[in-house]
Formats: sequence, C-alpha cells, structure tokens
Amino acid sequence: MSAESKSFYLTTPIYYVNDAPHIGHAYTTVAGDVLTRWHRQRGESVWFLTGTDEHGQKVMNTANLNGSSPQEWCDRLVETAWKPNWANLNIAYDDFIRTTEPRHMERVQRFLSGLKDQGHIYSGKYEGPYCIDCEEFKLPGDLDEGKCKIHGRQVEMVSEENWFFRLSAFVPQLLQHYKDHPEACEPASARNEVISFLESGVQDLSISRSTFDWGIPVPWDVKQVIYVWFDALLNYATAVGLGDSADSPGGKKFASVWPPDVHLVGKDILRFHAVIWPAMLMAANLPLPKKVFAHGWLLVGGEKMSKSKLTGIAPSDITDHFGIDAFRYYFLRAIPFGSDGSFSWEDMGARYTSELANDFGNLASRLIAMIEKYCDGKIPAIAFDDTLQAALNVTVSDADAAMIALDFQGGINSIMDFCKRVNGYVTEQQPWVLAKDPANKVELDKVLYNTADAIRALAVLFHSVMPATTETLWESLGADESMGPISMQRIGDVAGWGQLPAGSKVTKGAVLFPRLEEKAE
Ligand code: ME8
Ligand code: MG
Repeated sequence: MSAESKSFYLTTPIYYVNDAPHIGHAYTTVAGDVLTRWHRQRGESVWFLTGTDEHGQKVMNTANLNGSSPQEWCDRLVETAWKPNWANLNIAYDDFIRTTEPRHMERVQRFLSGLKDQGHIYSGKYEGPYCIDCEEFKLPGDLDEGKCKIHGRQVEMVSEENWFFRLSAFVPQLLQHYKDHPEACEPASARNEVISFLESGVQDLSISRSTFDWGIPVPWDVKQVIYVWFDALLNYATAVGLGDSADSPGGKKFASVWPPDVHLVGKDILRFHAVIWPAMLMAANLPLPKKVFAHGWLLVGGEKMSKSKLTGIAPSDITDHFGIDAFRYYFLRAIPFGSDGSFSWEDMGARYTSELANDFGNLASRLIAMIEKYCDGKIPAIAFDDTLQAALNVTVSDADAAMIALDFQGGINSIMDFCKRVNGYVTEQQPWVLAKDPANKVELDKVLYNTADAIRALAVLFHSVMPATTETLWESLGADESMGPISMQRIGDVAGWGQLPAGSKVTKGAVLFPRLEEKAE
C-alpha cells in the first residue's frame, strides 16, 4: 500500500470500565469524532478507534465490590453504559476494542514475547508506591504526604519479583525524536513536560504483577499478569492486526493505517503515551505515531472531574436539556483544546441561545420562511454576490487549517464568524422591504439565493460538529434531493458559490435549536 493511500488513523484512550462515562470521557470522544468526520469530509479514508480498558486492579476491585466477576462487570458496563453513550452522542467510530477480547490478548502476548526475544525484558524486584486509581507506579515527586497528587488517595506499597522493560535505554532516542518531530507531542506545554520528564532520568518499567490475576498472563511465566498499561497501550496496534502476517486480513489492515496520525488523550495520561508507548514501539522497530495530543481537563470546583472522586457529570444530564449537537458544539467551542475548562450551566445556556439558537438556527428558519413566502417555497435563480463569496473562501481555508491542527475552537469560530456575516448581509439587504415592490423581484431573488447558498455552506462546514442538526437543515433546503447526502459534501468544494440548485423545494423542518425549557432544579 502506498503512503498516499494510508488512512487517517485516530484513536481515543480506551477508558476504564469501573464506572459509566462522564462528560470528561465524552469530551475526548466527541473531539475524535468531530476530527475524523472532518477528515472524511476532506475525502480522506479514515479509521477511528475507541474502546475499553478492562484489566487491572481498579476494574477488578470495582467488580468485586459489586459482587460480580470482572468479566461480567465489564460486559455489563460496556453494553449498558459505554456503547449506548457513544451511540447517543452520535459517535461514528469504525472499531471498538475491548482488552478482554482474544484478538487483543493474543497479539499482546506475541508482542511481549518478541520484546523478550530481542533482549528488552528482564526479571527484577520492584519496590515502591502504586496508585490504583492511576494504575501507575509512582515516584516520590508524584506524592503528597503519601497520597497520589491526582487522586488524593493513599497509594499502596508494592514489593514483588516482576518482569521489567528496559525503558531507560530509549531515553536518548525519545529526546531525539521530539527534537526532530516537535509535532509528535502537542500542545507545546505537553511536549515540554515530556522532555523535562525524559531529562530528569527515567527508570526501567515493571511490566508485570504477581499479586492478582485479572490481566493477560505473561506467556512464559503464567503466574504473572501483564501490567495493565502495557496491555492497554497496545490496543492501538492490536486492534489493527499487530504482528499478523503481511498477506492476512490483519496484516493488510495494519499496513493501511499504521502509524496512527493522532492519539487523542487527556493530559493525565500524557507520559504513558509520549514516553512508554513510543519506547515500546521503538523496541519493536515499529514506526512511531505522528502525534500525541494531550487536551486539558474539565474541572469541577477547580479540580479534575473524575469517577473516583464522584464528581462526574453524565453526558445525558446535559444532552437531556440542551440536545446532543449543542453538547458536541459547546465544549469544543468554549475551551481552547489543550487548556483546562470548567463546565457551567449558565455559560452553556448563554452560548446555546446566542450562538446556536439566534445566530445559526434563526438565520436558517428566517430564510426558509422567506423563501416559502416570497418564492413559492423554491430556491430562486442562481445569482452571485462577491462579498459573501470572498468571505466564504477565507472561512473555508481558515476553518480547515484550524480543524486539522486540532484547534477546534478556532475552526468553529471561523465558521461562526461567517454565520454572523451572513446575518449581517440579511439585515443590510432587508429582503422583507424588497418584497414590498414587485419591481425588486430580481434583487430579492438574488439576496435570498445568496443567503440560501451561504447556509448550504454553513451546513456542510458544521456537519462534523453537529451531524444531526445539519442533516435536518440540509433536508429542509431540499439539498439532499438535489446534491446528495450532506456527509458526501467535500470541504474542498464548499467554497464554490452557486451550488444549491435553483428550484429546489424548501420545507420548514423542525426548529434546529428549540427555546430552552426552564431547567428544573
Ligand atoms: O486513563 N477532563 O482511562 P480513564 C477531560 N484506561 N478529559 C477527561 C476527564 C476530565 N475531567 N476525565 C477523563 C485511562 N477524561 C486508561 C487509558 S489508553 C491506552 C488507557 C478523559 O477511564 C481523558 O481523555 O481514566 C482522559 O485521558 C481519559 O478520559 C482517562 O480515562
Ligand atoms: Mg483516569
């Protein structure tokens, strides 16, 4: 397979199934969905992977506390909580990997045996603190009075004979990698953190545990299970056929997607993705991911929202009130990707009303109403307007550059600026005044056509962020009949003016962003 035809391959973290998803997990997953939809609309072939991380002490302990076997617990949570949440949020992943699946476990074992054969694994004694919430061996600097700084919980002391991965041997190569490829870890603050961590002296990593059994057995020492992070990181490769022979389906899949273009992660798990994971791949002589992007945290009361602190807000708490597309829009619009942000009902309510309901939704419903009233419900003759066309050209190139750079806020703002520009155009041109004199018919048609075609462009540009709402709008413009499905509209073609065919029948569809009900407290 040639480099040109490689798919754009994006992953989210695989989440622990100790509980149902909260809006922090949804934040990453929605961002991944928006970015992959955008790339699909650029005409690229795309592979979007998400899934669940099911081994380790945290999941095992939660299952035990709930009187369930770990496997039953995972099955139940995946089927009743994780997959339904992603379906509800309209997440169009291509594959969902669970680390308890045989396809994953077998490939992990084969990979680990390969590293052992190459001399990257040795046996030793591990002694030190471990945070079960992080599933991480801790350094003294990671603790505050014996408690994990992230979770504020007491760590446990581990003292075991384990298998170790020669992580420290890869430090010079990792430093060189980030020097040569700064874009491989973003934003810059994340890269700097990784570089100073690497410079501070990295120790070899214990990659097995012997005191519990909920994990993948070490193939040559089945009394030990593979450390949950070593197991989990490999999902990105096992899900696409890691280690399968070149002519098998797995081998062909691997060749068509590897290396990943973007690993989306929260900054809590940056080191695993930007230090341990590339070192594992270096040890196996595999090409490294092109980018790890660490976004910020959604905060509650100034602290990271988390399952273990019971501060998680369920996505449905928000989507029940604001709708799914407003949820998808809000977090990417309100928080620069890479920075922390707090959720507030007030801010979300204000943006919903001013940006979505007024600027976007009302523009569309006014246009449809005017075409029904003044043009017999049909898109008028195609006419050109230089100012909107020039503005749209700039919008498309700005939005595209921002989106592919994972600047979701910048991309959405460019599109919203164009939306405001179109509102300004309608206000200036006053079609309702033109309509009073039949002598203005040509001018009126021109204004309405230009507005309609601008909304056609807005629908396409907003499709990745708000797939269902823009589809409704597309149908009410009659564009599905005349131009085909909205998902097939290409970003590279959006700026071409005059695409909406004259004579298309518009219909007043459902209100795109209904007025908010008073929220019951
Ligand atoms: O770490 N704000 O799983 P996890 C923003 N299984 N994003 C948040 C968030 C918050 N408050 N809380 C969670 C694990 N996230 C491992 C991953 S990958 C090989 C293994 C998101 O269930 C964010 O993406 O703890 C974060 O990195 C991830 O959920 C952690 O999910
Ligand atoms: Mg976590």
